[in-house]
Amino acid sequence: METTVICPGSFDPVTLGHIDIISRASKMFSYVIVAVLANPSKQNSSFSIDERIDLLVKSTENLENVEIVSFEGLLAEYAKKRNVTAIVKGLRAVSDFEYEFQMSLTNKILNPDLETIFLTAESKYMYLSSSMVKQVASLGGDIKGFVPDCVLDRIVERLSAK
Ligand code: PNS
Repeated sequence: METTVICPGSFDPVTLGHIDIISRASKMFSYVIVAVLANPSKQNSSFSIDERIDLLVKSTENLENVEIVSFEGLLAEYAKKRNVTAIVKGLRAVSDFEYEFQMSLTNKILNPDLETIFLTAESKYMYLSSSMVKQVASLGGDIKGFVPDCVLDRIVERLSAK
């Protein structure tokens, strides 16, 4: 069966934890749409939508069945528009669970055909997040091992310029 899934997120910026989930999804499903939330009301992002997309494109160029897009508004509506019936999300520590559970149930009410599939984060990425990457980089710490090597310099340069 041909199955397309959406991996949604803020990706501000992409981390190795995101890439782990995207690449595992790309092996499990025929096509993966990585959808970056472009909400005009979200003013506190560190990277612009174009920057986030560029970093994701570069970091996934070895994955042939992955497309990077941005979306605005409700994810449940975007999924309908793209004819997609499954979202794939990574689940890290227990602290993620309540929020992810709430989003999954809300999406299901908004679009009853939409399932959410959770992949357990790899243990080495269990506590990795974009916010942690930003904090470490802005304080001069080494973020090698947290973000893809191919975009490491761009992320460091961008964050240290802030
Ligand atoms: O990387 P994140 O912050 O976990 O991603 C959250 C995201 C983008 C998946 C979520 O905020 C989202 O889907 N936003 C779109 C608005 C929406 O559909 N809200 C209702 C369900 S929570």
